[in-house]
Amino acid sequence: MRLIFIGFGTVGQGLAELLLEKKNHLAEKYGFKYKVIGISDINLGSLYDPGGINLEKALKAASATGKLDSSLGPVYEKDAVRMIQDAEADVILEATYTDIKTGEPATSHIRTALSKGLHVVTTNKGPLALHYHELVRLAEDNNAKFLFEGTVMSGTPLLNLIRETLAGSSIQEIKGILNGTTNYILTQMEAGMSYDTALKKAQELGYAEAVPDADVLGWDALAKVSILAKVVFGANKDPFEYPCEGITGISAEAVADARASGKRYKLIGKVWREANEVKASVGPEKVDLSHPLSGVTGATNAVSICSDTLGEITIVGPGAGKRETGFSLLADLLKVGGIK
Ligand code: HSE
Repeated sequence: MRLIFIGFGTVGQGLAELLLEKKNHLAEKYGFKYKVIGISDINLGSLYDPGGINLEKALKAASATGKLDSSLGPVYEKDAVRMIQDAEADVILEATYTDIKTGEPATSHIRTALSKGLHVVTTNKGPLALHYHELVRLAEDNNAKFLFEGTVMSGTPLLNLIRETLAGSSIQEIKGILNGTTNYILTQMEAGMSYDTALKKAQELGYAEAVPDADVLGWDALAKVSILAKVVFGANKDPFEYPCEGITGISAEAVADARASGKRYKLIGKVWREANEVKASVGPEKVDLSHPLSGVTGATNAVSICSDTLGEITIVGPGAGKRETGFSLLADLLKVGGIK
């Protein structure tokens, strides 16, 4: 499978590390063999070599020098859209930064790839939250696969699980903790750390979004809620049509007061069906300590899915991180390769 990385930051590098680490396992167990023919990154620079790029060297250069230069192979001078247009590839791995307001530049990358019949695997929330229905049609019209498991809860199975394993069920509500950064901050604040220090640490750990404030204002959770509303409930609204509040108004005192009264602040995202209408919201809630969501700490995410067949199922797992999100791309890549 000929792969192109569009975006080679934390998430792209997370996948690259897994591809190297598991190369033999993937080939032996799944018959999955790959060749990386292009890497396009706005900060690191770009390489394109149909003969294959040495991924190990590219990874080392990305962290050592912050540049992908001609010592690694032919440098590609044009932009990502041109690389996708020019390339003889099978799969585009779209892992550029999320812009929930415009969905760009990722939406242009994905449109270009799907129009050409290239499969796309992405972790980018913007295109899904804003243009899901259009992109799915485009993929179908061009016989391309379009997978996006990592957009919600990183590699923890959620979207593929709902779409495949819960097929035939009617989903009534999905509710939970969908943003790792804010959950990490709230957890650290309860332990006495200041808001600013906790935010800085979340950024250092690679949980936070590239766009400042997207986490703490609730926008990242809003993007995920909108993706769930579109993918699972068939909704059509844009993210900012739903009510959204972040955690910036929650003081250390409020966190301590909630704790003293047997509760814990959590940023809760939810989507539900009400009288044939799909509703969604993001906002802080004081969750009772007896409720399972109150025990979900750090960057961990959790969602409860309520369906007509199974009642409530709760999934708890990593919601952010280099390896965790990189894994979502790997899982989708194997699905593109036809591995069940
Ligand atoms: N900034 C996001 C979070 C990353 O903190 O959950 C995963 O989407």
